[in-house]
Amino acid sequence: MEPVRFWLNGALVEEHDASPTTTLLDYLRRTLRQTGTKEGCAEGDCGACTVAVLDTEGPSSARWRSVNACLVLLPMVHGRHLVTVEGLRRDGVYHPVQDALARAMGSQCGYCTPGVVMSMFEACYRDDLDEDWQVDDQMCGNLCRCTGYRPIREAAQAIAGLAPDDHFARLAASQVPPAPALSYEAHGQRFFAPRSLEALFDILDAHPDHRLVTGATDLGLDVTKRRKRFPCLVSLENLSDLRIIEARTDGLTLGAGLTLADLELVTRRLLPPLSRMLRYFGARQIKNRATLGGNLANASPIGDTAPVLLALDASVIARSRQGERVIPVDAFFEGYRKTALRPGEIIARVDFPSTPTDARVGVYKVSKRRELDISAVCAAMRVRVGDDGVITEARIAYGGMAATPSRAHRVEALLVGRPFEAVTFEAAAPAIADDFQPIDDHRGSAWYRRTVAQNLLRGFFEETRSARFRPLPEAPSSTVQVEVAS
Ligand SMILES: Cc1cc2nc3c(=O)[nH]c(=O)nc-3n(C[C@H](O)[C@H](O)[C@H](O)COP(=O)(O)OP(=O)(O)OC[C@H]3O[C@@H](n4cnc5c(N)ncnc54)[C@H](O)[C@@H]3O)c2cc1C
Ligand code: FES
Ligand code: FES
Repeated sequence: MEPVRFWLNGALVEEHDASPTTTLLDYLRRTLRQTGTKEGCAEGDCGACTVAVLDTEGPSSARWRSVNACLVLLPMVHGRHLVTVEGLRRDGVYHPVQDALARAMGSQCGYCTPGVVMSMFEACYRDDLDEDWQVDDQMCGNLCRCTGYRPIREAAQAIAGLAPDDHFARLAASQVPPAPALSYEAHGQRFFAPRSLEALFDILDAHPDHRLVTGATDLGLDVTKRRKRFPCLVSLENLSDLRIIEARTDGLTLGAGLTLADLELVTRRLLPPLSRMLRYFGARQIKNRATLGGNLANASPIGDTAPVLLALDASVIARSRQGERVIPVDAFFEGYRKTALRPGEIIARVDFPSTPTDARVGVYKVSKRRELDISAVCAAMRVRVGDDGVITEARIAYGGMAATPSRAHRVEALLVGRPFEAVTFEAAAPAIADDFQPIDDHRGSAWYRRTVAQNLLRGFFEETRSARFRPLPEAPSSTVQVEVAS
């Protein structure tokens, strides 16, 4: 077994003894005594623990990524470069993000400030910021209780995309090799990060008590909140086979190991409904780690990507040592947090057929606040309309309405064969109550969820009825965010 090795602010760190479920945050603060990085919530919600990792695995060249150190397990930084707030000031000179925050007077008590500057640090080196909202999206995972967000936002806008030709930019451009494979063991717990599928399946066979992990934005909460210990974690993060992007005339293939930040970017052009849903998913630090495979395997009733896959008639490709199996997403969710995956199988990728030219598509997320919130209800809808104005196919999918993300089959039956008109949608909307018996919980009552689901159906018609509505991919936006007072 080998140690975990990584570079922290340029210095090599080697660790032989920390349990594999030690969070990076605990390791920085308790073991290395680097207490600049703060702890607030330990569940990805406040951003106080934000640090930057050089991501060499994404589809583009190496990039700095802001991540929540509270949800990163120590072995996950093996072979990687890490920058924390302590490493920003070099040769006595503050980094431009620190300077910008000070000039904008964006700090009072200072507790959130290390996390804020590390989020701004990523923004500083991003080359994909072409719209204003992207800076808000970059910063929405950082809470501040006292300064107020205007000065922080102004500082972030001042440095977004600045790309100084400095030490950090040069490191990113210096052909840093991808992280090597890792076999690590401490305190009776193991952590493997293979780099090939063959090695992965050998490990899965040898360790039947394994648990898969990719970004750990779900699994990390088991560690920090439920205090679970895992005897054997197997990370899929280093598998390039799980990060493919293949656009064909008959469809699109997306690797299950792509981060949601990368997916949001590539699907802006290739699959706008998915990109728009991801716009309202978690926060930048979460999307920099979370993956499509993790979101599906987690099988949460409120997982936001599943309804989009259901509406777009996607298939999950499961892979095991025996080969591949195609599972239509309609058959993937078998029950509450239960999927059709068999032991020894992983989600390798998702296949989307091309969207028919006569399709109208809408995706919607309703949550108590716009940024960084879990859906009360989310929906994705695709309706095809013939030249005669009659609906030929309807795929109406919801999250938050049942034990699994599901289609509203009775509603669909009431739409197909009828004219694409308001009266048709009005007549079909009450059937939501036949399709779903949602639960009451703190995110909304059953009545509220049913009412919202019906209104989203009506809203979908209103949004896509326009004669000027252009089918995908040209449609500029097929998502609306509905804010509901808490
Ligand atoms: C602050 C915060 C905000 C969030 N916001 C949202 C949100 O807005 N919408 C939403 O839907 N979710 C949200 N989530 C949940 C989470 O981020 C997503 O579900 C994410 O996509 C999980 O991906 P991951 O790679 O981190 O999964 P992990 O935590 O690594 O794994 C999750 C589960 O999937 C399994 N798994 C992972 N990859 C694979 C694979 N390729 N094949 C088979 N099994 C696999 C693991 O064994 C584990 O059981 C949020 C979480 C946090 C902490
Ligand atoms: S401590 Fe709050 S996001 Fe990590
Ligand atoms: S400056 Fe006090 S929490 Fe932000």
